Amino acid sequence: MNTFVRFERDRDVAVVTIDHPPVNALSPGVVEGLRAAIEQANVEAEVRAIVVIGSGRTFIAGADVHEFQKPTAGEYVAKIRATLSTIEDSAKPVVMAIHGAALGGGLETAMAGHYRLIAPSAQVGQPEVKLGLIPGAGGTLRLPRLAGVAKAVEMCAFGAPIKAQEAFAAGIVDRIVDGDLRAGAVAFAREVASQPVRRTRDRQEKLANADPAIFSAAREQASKKWRGQTAPLAAIDAVEATTKLAFADGLKRESELFYQCLRSPQAKALIYAFFAERAVTKIPGISGSTPTYDIARAAIVGAGTMGGGIAMAFVNAGIPVLIKETGQEALDRGMTNIRRNYARLPQEAADQKLALITPQLTFDGFDQADIIVEAVFENLAVKQQVFREIDGISKPGAILATNTSSLDIDQIAVATKRPDMVIGLHFFSPANIMRLIEIVRGSAIRPEVTATAATLAKRLGKIGVIAGNCPGFIGNRMINVYGREAQFLLEEGATVEDVNQALFDFGMAMGPLAMFDLVGNDVMRDIAAISSTAARSPLVLPQLCAMGRLGQKTGKGWSRYDESRKPSADPEVAALIESTARSAGIERRIISKQEIVDRCILALVNEGAHILEEGIALRASDIDVIYLTGYGFPAWRGGPMFYADSIGSSNVVARIEEFGWTPAPLLKRLAAKGKTFT
Ligand code: 3HC
Ligand code: NAI
Repeated sequence: MNTFVRFERDRDVAVVTIDHPPVNALSPGVVEGLRAAIEQANVEAEVRAIVVIGSGRTFIAGADVHEFQKPTAGEYVAKIRATLSTIEDSAKPVVMAIHGAALGGGLETAMAGHYRLIAPSAQVGQPEVKLGLIPGAGGTLRLPRLAGVAKAVEMCAFGAPIKAQEAFAAGIVDRIVDGDLRAGAVAFAREVASQPVRRTRDRQEKLANADPAIFSAAREQASKKWRGQTAPLAAIDAVEATTKLAFADGLKRESELFYQCLRSPQAKALIYAFFAERAVTKIPGISGSTPTYDIARAAIVGAGTMGGGIAMAFVNAGIPVLIKETGQEALDRGMTNIRRNYARLPQEAADQKLALITPQLTFDGFDQADIIVEAVFENLAVKQQVFREIDGISKPGAILATNTSSLDIDQIAVATKRPDMVIGLHFFSPANIMRLIEIVRGSAIRPEVTATAATLAKRLGKIGVIAGNCPGFIGNRMINVYGREAQFLLEEGATVEDVNQALFDFGMAMGPLAMFDLVGNDVMRDIAAISSTAARSPLVLPQLCAMGRLGQKTGKGWSRYDESRKPSADPEVAALIESTARSAGIERRIISKQEIVDRCILALVNEGAHILEEGIALRASDIDVIYLTGYGFPAWRGGPMFYADSIGSSNVVARIEEFGWTPAPLLKRLAAKGKTFT
């Protein structure tokens, strides 16, 4: 048909193959090719039925998201809708054969067909909300007709894909095909060739009597899960409209809601974030041909909070681990935490995972490990000692990684005879859950080691972002200035609750002082000490630490915590802040919510600009990915650097100068040229 869509005949069945690597996105050429193929099949007299299948690793990953960034996005989606009508209108049955994934416009295409077959390993979903959108090509109309209203609301408003078996049970697909999907689909097409076509748009039975409680419950849940985001609510509105309107009117309503979303700043930010996440794997000097080391066995030093989490991250990817501690008690404590975590799984799955972990007090077997990850106390001398030991016993070619959150990788590397094999893998807590890893490169690093770390991150299901070696790397270096500003605001008159609430309302997962209390005030103090060179130091944090107010772990920090870790304001802290400020001669005043937000967020931006200029981050979008995946920055604001761009560099500079700070040179240059970070 064209370069994206092939048309072949298997006797009386037309086989239409979408061939648009890597993921068969519905680019304009695919949309056009599909339409032409269906029309062709309808005019060829010998053809009795049509199979649509994807080549490569997937069926169709959805609309081509690049097209949404163009002014022609509206026409583009209208063309997808028209092609799906052509498919649904086909007089000859159209059988969709799904492998890999049918997501977004991919599932919408599948639902416009008359039958759907699926490979057992495939999945389907409407993930548009994650891009700040709703399904725009009939998904909110056809999915409830196939799967029922409740399932459609769940899939359209929450975006999680479902597996083949669940899709079959829900009625989204008609058959699961083991073995050769194409052969199975062609045989099925022959079976149904003489039957009258059954169009999804005509199916009404699952739409009747939708319980209004489905929508209200989903709205409540979506407002919590997607706090601040508009698309999930629009998706629910669209499915609700489906239950009340004729198909053509429902399509119009979906289209209106889709365009509202598409035009929103939220969609722009989320689409930016989608590509930003994928850009992290593009590392200058490293390509697909850079050799990587095989990672079949891992070993971990330290079974504390991070060591245990990292062990689970490896095991969850099927990589066996040895985990070493200094004493039986610490080892038992670490293993108890791991067991508690796996207790949520069915017994058999938990046993399988635990069988991959060998807890021990010696380095036995470390000589077989392809990678050793150190996760001991954050102390340079202790880490150097550990690296000396593991260097002595590990095999040549083994990668030695440190989970340090702020120390100098080069100083750790020099403790070994292989500084080129030493790398920072800065996992975030809880390491088995959090997606971010900062991959920190020392000055001697071999490209193969960086390439291996990037591949490994993907294998662990994580996002590995390259960072240069400086105190705190990217994330913690920035969090320092953010946390400092939060504390200065307290000294100048804001309350703990004001500061936490302002940033929470901005969209942060939690306020800065709530974050301190979660991570531990002692940990935050230590991180700050390593990377702070600024003239003004926060005055209250050291006092809280001295009082044992370390945060949630001691029941008291900036706030007081009850048994269920619910925070409440603590007058003792308010009094401490006030007296500390007075004795330091700091003038106290009423501080607006806007000032709280601007000072904390623009502190991030200004530091981010320094980091970028120093080459510590490869690109502004890498900083954003770190903040979105590791620090609870609201996804719909795109990350701190994208947020700065949305305000405008010159406005950012002006505000920073109002605060009496010095704008980073890069920021000033961008402002002068009217340019942006991203
Ligand atoms: N449009 C454009 N490019 C896409 C794309 C899409 N829908 N999906 C993936 N890509 C690109 C990626 O940017 C990446 O490009 P790169 O190599 O240049 O960086 C490449 O395809 C491979 O993607 P991944 O690295 O993500 O590959 P994985 O194998 O890890 O994952 C996937 C595959 C699960 C399909 C994942 O890519 C994905 O989730 N894609 C997006 C799915 C989605 O959101 N679809 C809905 C789109 S909106 C829509 O359909 C609107 C409609 O209702 C009108
Ligand atoms: P932790 O105190 O919970 O665990 C450290 C463990 O290392 C302890 O169990 C200790 O007994 C063990 N240990 C100390 N010396 C050892 C040695 N020579 N051999 C074997 N085990 C030894 O500390 P946590 O929080 O797990 O931190 C570990 C590292 O991870 C630190 O460098 C920290 O900065 C970093 N990190 C911590 C994060 C967090 O949120 N806790 C986040 C990211 C990094």
